[in-house]
Amino acid sequence: MLFFYCMENHKKYRAIAIDGVSSSGKSTMAKRLAKTLGYTYIDTGAMYRAVTWFFLEKHVNIEDEQEVSVTLDKINISFRLIEGKNVCFINGQNAEPFIRSMEVSNFVSQVAAISSVRKKMVFLQQEIGKTTHVVMDGRDIGTVVFPDADVKIFVNSPARLRAERRWLEMKETNPDITVDEIENNLNMRDYIDSTREDSPLKQAEDALLIDNTLLNVEEQYKAALDYIHQKL
Ligand code: DC
Repeated sequence: MLFFYCMENHKKYRAIAIDGVSSSGKSTMAKRLAKTLGYTYIDTGAMYRAVTWFFLEKHVNIEDEQEVSVTLDKINISFRLIEGKNVCFINGQNAEPFIRSMEVSNFVSQVAAISSVRKKMVFLQQEIGKTTHVVMDGRDIGTVVFPDADVKIFVNSPARLRAERRWLEMKETNPDITVDEIENNLNMRDYIDSTREDSPLKQAEDALLIDNTLLNVEEQYKAALDYIHQKL
């Protein structure tokens, strides 16, 4: 019995689940944690964004289940390591240059609420977790994708603060954008993400909550790393 238990444990790949509200600094923290631990970082938001971009390109009517299903069958999402970064590809094309626009940001939560889209993305995420130690960030990683993740962390802070922090990052490349516009987008996404029927955004019962209102990037990272070291 003990022998089989050890074999199971030996085969298991580790998963660190990072969930939280939009633009809360999850990905900055998750990327760094993955680097420190030697794990693979998977940005699941990029997967939903890539599908959204494809739907926009193809003018898919998301109310039409058949059209959504046929289009999903034509989508192949993968990750490739480029210059040390794990980059999301859609149908062999680097998705990154297209998926961070406001157009995608304004539509992605509606696409991510579609069950057939989630089913496909969750399957892919679980497949990756079968062969790799991962730090995965998203909205449902600790609750749905890896309910038995080795470590779960949930990140939160007020929308206004997140919008101000995001504005500082965006103002160079998008000088016309305002804090209000970003805050409205974040509030809208958090609302749709947390009220959808299928795997809504919520903190797993066994997740550590990090509220980063009073924490800088470094302090947040340290809090997460300390917790991971305690758990592993
Ligand atoms: O992390 P992000 O802001 O790039 O995610 C984009 C959208 O995708 C977000 O509004 C919610 C959705 N999402 C999701 O529903 N489940 C995930 N695991 C990751 C993202």
